[in-house]
Amino acid sequence: MNDHLLETVNVTKQFRSGSYSGTKFKAVDNVSFNLEKREVLLLIGESGCGKTTLSNIILGVLKPSHGFIKYKNKIVSKPVKSFISEVQPIFQDPYSTFNPFVKVDYYFKEVCKNFNLAKKKSEIDQKITTVLNQVRMNTEIQDKFTHQFSGGQLQRLSIARALLTNPSLLIADEPVTMIDASLRVGILNILADLNKKLDLAMIFISHDLSVGYYMAELLERIKIIVMYRGKIVEETTGKYLFSNPLHPYTKQLIESVPSINPDKKWHSSTEHVVLELEEFNLEGCKYAKRCPFAKQVCEKEEPPFFTIGESKVRCWLYSNEKNSK
Ligand SMILES: Nc1ncnc2c1ncn2[C@@H]1O[C@H](COP(=O)(O)OP(=O)(O)O)[C@@H](O)[C@H]1O
Ligand code: SF4
Ligand SMILES: [Mg+2]
Repeated sequence: MNDHLLETVNVTKQFRSGSYSGTKFKAVDNVSFNLEKREVLLLIGESGCGKTTLSNIILGVLKPSHGFIKYKNKIVSKPVKSFISEVQPIFQDPYSTFNPFVKVDYYFKEVCKNFNLAKKKSEIDQKITTVLNQVRMNTEIQDKFTHQFSGGQLQRLSIARALLTNPSLLIADEPVTMIDASLRVGILNILADLNKKLDLAMIFISHDLSVGYYMAELLERIKIIVMYRGKIVEETTGKYLFSNPLHPYTKQLIESVPSINPDKKWHSSTEHVVLELEEFNLEGCKYAKRCPFAKQVCEKEEPPFFTIGESKVRCWLYSNEKNSK
């Protein structure tokens, strides 16, 4: 028996594009990884690569077509109350999380009631004070309506609310994407702090590698998974990914981030949309249509994982045997 906090085992989700007669494709394709207690995993990949689908499967709100999720060694078939209290989501859009005409304390008290967190008013107040302090917010804000807050403050409230149940794992899906650039760093700092101080494991999802770069600087131990068209293409540690990216797609991602590479401009992504469905259904490497190093074998056979140093990479360039094809 192992001691992983979370395991995804061969998780696959098949959708149809468009209507019933649309083409089938795997938005998440045979994804397996482990997350340990207290570990932070950064899931990176461009929009449409399957990150939210995977996150919804882990949260139990979407059923996988194949494969399964294990949390603390038990298969998660549906999200029961104890699982929900331990595995808490943070969503991308903090504005749609809260009704603007409802006061903050209502949301917090609802969670305390639903999860039976405390009976006495003084205990409930103490819990709410603790979580607000953890996101660096003043307790007086409880009496305000949620429309009185900025996106950054609302996202802090989402995090505070998620902390009420004392979770072991936070799944934050693009938590800073809809927030003013000036306020993003504040949220990232809070998440990194929570990991360090509360030993809270985290799956942090982003399409923006500069966010990953910042998180990897804040946290010494961070695992990074790069996804492309539903597949994991590279899995490694934070420091290693930025100093020694292996997969051609990872290299392209890093080169196109201005804050990491100030000389470069953002890569235009219009052609990606056209290629999307075609790439999802490629037999071999999903990146073959865009890869400057593609060989014959790439189009025909899907590359397995090759282990190089601290990384696992799905690319034929790292197989001496196949390199010669
Ligand atoms: N319910 C659905 N039905 C059909 N296609 C879907 C559905 N949900 C997501 N998709 C498609 O699956 C792919 C992955 O989507 P998603 O997981 O949202 O990606 P990401 O979060 O990485 O942007 C996209 O092509 C998206 O359009
Ligand atoms: S397997 Fe081939 S096409 Fe795919 S990334 Fe590697 S070299 Fe490029
Ligand atoms: Mg998404």
